[in-house]
Amino acid sequence: MWQRFLSASSNIGVALVLAVFGINMACGDEGPLVKEESKVPPYTLPDPLITNDGKRITTADEWRNIRWPELMRLFETEVYGRAPAEKPKLSFKKTSEDDGALGGKAIRKEVTIDVSTKRGHVPLHLLLYVPKSKSPVPVMLGLNFHGNQVVCDDKGIALAKCWILNEDYLGITDHRANEKSRGSQTSNWQVEEVVKHGFAVATMCCGDIEPDSPAGLSQGVRTLFLRDGRTEPDADEWGAIGAWAWGLSRALDYLETDPQVNAKQVVVWGHSRLGKTALWAAATDPRFAIAISNNSGCGGAALSKRIFGETVGRINRAFPYWFCGNFHKYSQHEEILPVDQHELIALIAPRPVYVASATNDLWADPRGEFLSAKNAGPVYALFGKRGIDADDLPAPDRSIGDVIGYHLRTGNHETTAFDWQQYLAFAERHFSMTPVSATK
Ligand code: GCU
Repeated sequence: MWQRFLSASSNIGVALVLAVFGINMACGDEGPLVKEESKVPPYTLPDPLITNDGKRITTADEWRNIRWPELMRLFETEVYGRAPAEKPKLSFKKTSEDDGALGGKAIRKEVTIDVSTKRGHVPLHLLLYVPKSKSPVPVMLGLNFHGNQVVCDDKGIALAKCWILNEDYLGITDHRANEKSRGSQTSNWQVEEVVKHGFAVATMCCGDIEPDSPAGLSQGVRTLFLRDGRTEPDADEWGAIGAWAWGLSRALDYLETDPQVNAKQVVVWGHSRLGKTALWAAATDPRFAIAISNNSGCGGAALSKRIFGETVGRINRAFPYWFCGNFHKYSQHEEILPVDQHELIALIAPRPVYVASATNDLWADPRGEFLSAKNAGPVYALFGKRGIDADDLPAPDRSIGDVIGYHLRTGNHETTAFDWQQYLAFAERHFSMTPVSATK
């Protein structure tokens, strides 16, 4: 039977043979899906400390003045795309405030950040929970997928009006938020716990900045910057991830005006595609004090040249609008990509970065995420900062590292209470705060 089946189609035959060895053939032209370590093809990582013309960087000053700008330019033109130099007009308007939120422990407020250029305007809706405090507090800022109302079970949060991803378990089928989704991601956001640790929570929906769909371009902030006569950005200009990261910087623009928070202690974090976004936001905006990537995978913390789980070809095919046009050159040709993702983390140096993976999240390549965090280390060392000493993935559920942190959590692709305990401890340590013990 195996023989008959194999001779019926050579493609199916190859797929079957590969499947036996832990490699699946995908439909399309992305090559085999590797899910086993022994099947990872050999690859070479670029050395972040070698300049484009082959010189070795040996000091923090050389890094800042020579290599950082070179690498930033490569990530801008080849991966995420450049954001426009043009400055939009911004206005901030508080639309609600309640000082009895979370049983009186926090102030909840909503602020509309209106972004405008001569081509129009886009309103961004920021939600904040600020712990009551005599002095300005640090902030955990992250984008959400399904509207601000999902992060906490609180009827006072305005239901998102923007385009959001459909989600069966929330009954969202028309890209619009519904009442049922209120508080549905409370366990992923841990708002009460974050506030208990003395941090404000700040969030807005990525769909507010730009809908996560190929048609999103014409409805989000990128459309505000299209040059006359153009309907899409050039091949080296920003994709949707670039736009979302830019939106995080606009949230930080607002935070700088809010006396209740300390805008010099803003942690930018994100899960999955929004983890990719958080890393890029921190790389491009030095005002972010700490970056956290939760299960960000391909195009985030995971190495691109290491072919395991999602690859450049797969991500470009499924989400052709996330990265810049030039990134498509590297689909199935990761070996010619002039950068890799450990260099994205290095661009954030010497600021603290935390990368987290999950054992079942093979699509995001936990080992590739670990190796990327580890291999950013030599750049941190230039600043006298320690990264990750371990040479191999740590045992699950153990946080390692110093200025670069890492853990591999047992479980699935999501953000959990365990992840938050590590992030809060990491930020408390780097902000020299007195750690608050975890609520069991
Ligand atoms: C898909 C995509 C990933 C992304 C994830 C998410 O799985 O392939 O790259 O990280 O969605 O954002 O949830």
